[in-house]
Amino acid sequence: MIDSIAGGNLVSLATLSQRAIVEVLDTAESFVEVNSRAVKKVPALKGKVIASLFFEESTRTRLSFETAAKRLSADVLSLAVASSSVKKGESLRDTINTIDALGIDAVVMRHSSSGAPVQVSRYVPHVRVINAGDGQHQHPTQGLLDAFTVRQVLAARAGTSGRESGSELFAGLNVLIVGDIRHSRVARSDIEVYTRLGAHVTVAAPGTLLPPDIAQWPVTVATDFDEALATADVVGLLRLQKERGSGAFVPSLGEFTSTFGLTSRRAELLRPETIIMHPGPMNRGVEIDSQVADSSAAVIEQQVRNGVPVRMAVLYLTTAGTTLESGSND
Ligand code: CP
Repeated sequence: MIDSIAGGNLVSLATLSQRAIVEVLDTAESFVEVNSRAVKKVPALKGKVIASLFFEESTRTRLSFETAAKRLSADVLSLAVASSSVKKGESLRDTINTIDALGIDAVVMRHSSSGAPVQVSRYVPHVRVINAGDGQHQHPTQGLLDAFTVRQVLAARAGTSGRESGSELFAGLNVLIVGDIRHSRVARSDIEVYTRLGAHVTVAAPGTLLPPDIAQWPVTVATDFDEALATADVVGLLRLQKERGSGAFVPSLGEFTSTFGLTSRRAELLRPETIIMHPGPMNRGVEIDSQVADSSAAVIEQQVRNGVPVRMAVLYLTTAGTTLESGSND
């Protein structure tokens, strides 16, 4: 296990210790203050160049990474993949070597192939690589921002700060993750981060949307969805990933919604303090009803907002190669 991502890459949460995760969350908490200033900018990465390479569609992750980099005063090279030489058949290796020749310090990348960021880290070992989602494998910064959001909500209720509480607020917490577990990199990263922080994770899905090796995962599989909802402290919905063929794994969207959707009726089973989450983009009316997504129990916009300080923390730690204790974010 790695105890700090300072000076390293971030391709997966599977190798991060609780200490490394808490370091990112605490660093992100410092950057929340920066984002509330009139001038939302610090010179922490001045002179660094960060490439943003999204081979798959994204709204939240790409924009918040690019915002985070700019707020740290880095220069951002953003490759519009759809109008780049990738479309002429240029390989991943040649693409990354070309961008590296321009002089970059870090690359933030999303790719449909699981393992592509690890491959890139071998092609350009002197460049920091940050995974913004690879196939069904990992979406590390989504996992980190989800944990950051839960800690923020629980800390506010407890009248403390997340930094003061460390990982304490996760001890014994019941997290329920619902939906397309099989195809979801978010589920894989969320499970890593929540279990490492001390929470208990239950998953609920039709059998066809569970991965074949689910028995080896550190989770409980819900046998009664309604009962799992009634005892959950956090409910994380997942998007039904039609682009990864999940439609073929359920008889119909209507049937999925009636058995595993968080409908308004089913949301009545939740306790008032249960936190409802979704990484977005949502299929409203499929995995979550609009009224539930827009209710006060849902923290979906807070998740998006937290994407910026969490990604600032990840960029700072990996690319500055230092921690806020040893450096300065003024
Ligand atoms: N949650 C998430 O990764 O959203 P985007 O695909 O919009 O980046």
